[in-house]
Amino acid sequence: MKSLIFGFHIILLLVTASYCKSDCDNLADILRKWNVEVNWNTSDGCCASSEVIFCNSKNEITDLYLESKTISGELFDIIGNFKALQYLCLNNNNLSGKIPDSIGKLSELKYLDLSNNGFTELPKNIAKLSKLEYLYLQNNQINSELPSNIGDMESLIKIDISNNKFNGKIPKSFVNLSKLEWAIMNNNEISGNIPDNFKKLYKIRELNLNTNKMRGNIPSDVAQNLNVVNLNLGNNLFYGNLPKEFQFDTLNLEYFCVENNYLTGVIPESFYTDNSDYCVNSSQKDIKSLPSAATKPQISKLFIIALNLIAFYYLLF
Ligand SMILES: *[C@@H]1O[C@H](CO)[C@@H](O)[C@H](O)[C@H]1NC(C)=O
Ligand SMILES: *[C@@H]1O[C@H](CO)[C@@H](O)[C@H](O)[C@H]1NC(C)=O
Ligand SMILES: *[C@@H]1O[C@H](CO)[C@@H](O)[C@H](O)[C@H]1NC(C)=O
Ligand SMILES: *[C@@H]1O[C@H](CO)[C@@H](O)[C@H](O)[C@H]1NC(C)=O
Repeated sequence: MKSLIFGFHIILLLVTASYCKSDCDNLADILRKWNVEVNWNTSDGCCASSEVIFCNSKNEITDLYLESKTISGELFDIIGNFKALQYLCLNNNNLSGKIPDSIGKLSELKYLDLSNNGFTELPKNIAKLSKLEYLYLQNNQINSELPSNIGDMESLIKIDISNNKFNGKIPKSFVNLSKLEWAIMNNNEISGNIPDNFKKLYKIRELNLNTNKMRGNIPSDVAQNLNVVNLNLGNNLFYGNLPKEFQFDTLNLEYFCVENNYLTGVIPESFYTDNSDYCVNSSQKDIKSLPSAATKPQISKLFIIALNLIAFYYLLF
């Protein structure tokens, strides 16, 4: 009987010991595995003594700024134990492999920067981060699809996944990101159409899909979105007419690019009347839809929309 009770206590001790390990102790374990010096006094914990670690009154880590530390290796599962974490920066390191599933447990996270590493996979449960406002994953090797329930990330203001190997379609739920202002997704392998109800993204200021495998028509509600300042759809497989709703005098567009698609139609005259920037590609030959320059003395820039009817018919498969 005695030994039974003793054994039970041992188990309880083991369970509570690993469960109650402080954030600082967990962080020390991680840093040692990464060969990063742990320069705080074990007795004081990490909260008092560092400019890259910030804690709340319960000594739980809220901010971790470990960018540009020449860290190599994986991002360990234990990262999910930092329950109070709000700001996590690990950008400009040499981290690789999968971003762990446990990232979805960081329910307080507002800011996540994993850019400029060698990560290869994004777990679906990133979509559980309903408080996340800024998500930076650019310049990795991520070969994943965006999670179908990405619309659950209801606080998201900015997403940058540029220069990866993201594939699959933009999920339908994407248009539920009602706070989204910047969607920077260029240089990936994203396919499919621009999702329906794009105008639900009524705060969107920048949409950059340059150099993907997007196809289909450009929906007119992209053009109707009055907040869009920077719209870059170049180097995709879009076809059909450029929506007539693209009118530069009524929109806030400052940058507009549709080069190297299979679009047809007429470029609205209003494109010539302001000082906006356009995606110019003077090597493209078909300029027949340009209005007469003679009647537009204020023209300062030439711009050209790619036309390629042959490929357009090819794409209609
Ligand atoms: C660690 O604690 C000792 C004793 O309290 C102190 O002398 C030392 O300066 C501390 N080191 C750091 C890095 O804070
Ligand atoms: C980066 O990580 C890879 C894979 O873990 C490793 O082979 C390489 O040596 C690392 N590079 C640097 C500069 O640490
Ligand atoms: C978007 O949000 C609405 C309201 O919360 C929900 O009913 C709908 O299913 C969501 N759409 C998608 C595609 O997830
Ligand atoms: C312009 O278009 C041509 C032909 O489509 C392409 O090869 C070239 O890279 C483009 N130039 C720029 C600067 O985008």
